Amino acid sequence: MIYVLGSINNDISLEMERMPKKGETLIADSCRMGLGGKGANQAVAIARLARKYDDGRKAVQMIGKVGTDAVGTELKNKLESYGVGVEFVRQVNRSTGTAIVTVCGKNNRIMVYSGANLGISKSDIDEALMNAKSTDTLLCQMEVPMYIVGYALSQARARGMTTILNPAPAHEMPEDMYYNVDVIAPNETETEKLTGINPKDWDSQLAAMKEFHRRGVRYVVLTLGGNGCAISDNGKLISHIPARKVPVVDTTGAGDTFVGALALTYPHVGMYSFEEACIFATRAASFTVSRQGAADSIPSFDEVSELYNTKIEA
Ligand code: ATP
Ligand code: RIB
Repeated sequence: MIYVLGSINNDISLEMERMPKKGETLIADSCRMGLGGKGANQAVAIARLARKYDDGRKAVQMIGKVGTDAVGTELKNKLESYGVGVEFVRQVNRSTGTAIVTVCGKNNRIMVYSGANLGISKSDIDEALMNAKSTDTLLCQMEVPMYIVGYALSQARARGMTTILNPAPAHEMPEDMYYNVDVIAPNETETEKLTGINPKDWDSQLAAMKEFHRRGVRYVVLTLGGNGCAISDNGKLISHIPARKVPVVDTTGAGDTFVGALALTYPHVGMYSFEEACIFATRAASFTVSRQGAADSIPSFDEVSELYNTKIEA
């Protein structure tokens, strides 16, 4: 079982020809609303890609909060319809989290109102992880309060679970939090914010990965957008995996698809190596950049079945 602790947002995506200047009003080319939030997107990625292992049980349980408003109910139902377990998604008397996503060619800019996502408590974590086993995984991001993420990671570590952190959006973290992280997967901006190193070339990527290892993390994946990713297993295996060349429509959720796919395949020891899991994640994310939206743009198992049936390579 993979437990995803994180945000659930109502994404309002505006497609723009260009970004407005200060004081300017611009008309958008299109507007769509859908399920988003880094936590929800990653949970959906796991559920959709996990069909291969489908034995009637859910592969993923989401731990999160939405509002008691209509949109909160709708997003919770949508998560469930994608195959995500929602037993630990609670509705509270706050507005559901909302994200305004502006998409302009290959670039997006996202503004988030956290709302109900801030309502997750330590007792929610205790309840959700009560029956978790050492073979289970906890996956977190940073769109819920940092002290809750730190608490969940420590509880998961105490149970011997695998822990994966996508530190997005990046906030400076206490150094001892890194000790409870098995795999960290930041993008370029997050890497720079957390390590002070801009991973613009191979030397700086190596330096940044080394810095995460120094802080206690075993596996590091730096996602580099259209340039793929750099990976390191405690410096033993160091590699660069190129991105697939695909037409880019909207990159929103690419990182989430990558991280969800990685969480699904990485702990299957014996089935995939760390490097193979990252190649798989790279291929899964390439589907997401080719279409619009966040959770709704994540590929299903059937769509990417060749990822399982063919030799894994980028
Ligand atoms: P986002 O916030 O846009 O969802 P992110 O910033 O968290 O994404 P990125 O590093 O931009 O994460 O992308 C994650 C992965 O998605 C990359 O490692 C790559 O495999 C894939 N990807 C991203 N952009 C492209 C692209 N233009 N072409 C092909 N693959 C891409
Ligand atoms: O990573 C993409 C997500 O970031 C969007 O779905 C938005 O809700 C923000 O959380």
